[in-house]
Amino acid sequence: MANVISVIPGDGIGPVIVKSAIKVLEATSEIYGFKLSFVEAPAGDAAKRDFGEPLPKSSFDKIRSSDACLKGPVGETAKDVIVFLRQKLDLYANIRPFKTLPGVSSKWKDVDLVIVRENTEDLYKCVEDVGEEHAVALMVLTKKACLRISNVAFQMAESRRKKVTLIHKINVLRSFELFRKAALEVARSYPSVIIEEMLVDNAAYQLVTNPQRFDVMLTTNMFGDILSDEAAGVVGSLGLAYSANVGDEFGLFEPVHGTAPDIDPLYANPIAQIMASKIMLEWLGRKKGNAAMIEAANGLENAVFYLLQDSKSLTPDLGGRATAEDVTKRLIDVLLKERCKL
Ligand code: NAI
Repeated sequence: MANVISVIPGDGIGPVIVKSAIKVLEATSEIYGFKLSFVEAPAGDAAKRDFGEPLPKSSFDKIRSSDACLKGPVGETAKDVIVFLRQKLDLYANIRPFKTLPGVSSKWKDVDLVIVRENTEDLYKCVEDVGEEHAVALMVLTKKACLRISNVAFQMAESRRKKVTLIHKINVLRSFELFRKAALEVARSYPSVIIEEMLVDNAAYQLVTNPQRFDVMLTTNMFGDILSDEAAGVVGSLGLAYSANVGDEFGLFEPVHGTAPDIDPLYANPIAQIMASKIMLEWLGRKKGNAAMIEAANGLENAVFYLLQDSKSLTPDLGGRATAEDVTKRLIDVLLKERCKL
């Protein structure tokens, strides 16, 4: 039976890069022998314009009843779409890997880190009171959320270089003590993992001056949001940065970046969206016990690395002149050839 993927094309460069990702997924599923079907779930600025609301109920129902969601970036309505979906579907872990890649210009050679960001609370709970003379936004943290995100981070570190950096701002805000206590409690169950603590301002500095020191960076919602764009810059381009929003039951996969309103969508880098599809396949493959999907995810990642290294089809953010469509065609070509070699 086909796995149903709900698809949010999004705004700005969204429809272009999502189209690329779907073409690549179609080719991948054919090559590796599994079935996907796609159902479009309009959301974002265009949906607000066309249907009067940024996330129509029909789209939400399609997303909720699908096996996974592939989401393109949405524009000014991001809060009503992605922040809402993360909270409503309890997608509490935002996992954002950053790695220096072959062929991608970066000051660093060997960065390999993952930001594990709590995805449902903090200031993005959006508990606000805004008046003419004042504005208040509450930072909400609960023990439950701190414990479960810490578990995700430590579990991940166990299968990597066994180090978690806990990032907070405890010297100013006592509230972070809850987060810290939860992380230290979880750490006791993972004796092979080293835990270090770092204030977020220092973490921002270390990320650009000494990024190799990080393995898993565990942090709260807004800090994770900001540090992710910085990490993307460290390894080369936001056009390569992808993320998984996962809970216990469901997963939504998207690029880290937004709609890139300053560029021609035809020249957008589709790789972040394609790599978001790659981790979607990994997640689905593990959830459904489908080895072909996991193999396909590996194949797709290798094809992306190959394409970056041979640097014949790079978009302008990586110093090339290729369009998103050029990258897509070349990637499918590489995928076909690589599979033939196996
Ligand atoms: P952005 O993240 O869209 O772009 C920042 C910079 O990176 C720009 O110079 C852009 O050209 C470049 N860039 C981003 N993606 C690229 C790609 N695939 N290829 C080449 N270059 C790329 O910028 P900003 O200002 O944070 O957001 C713009 C809009 O996107 C806003 O309306 C915001 O609300 C929305 N947004 C939506 C998100 C989501 O749907 N999850 C996440 C972040 C922003």
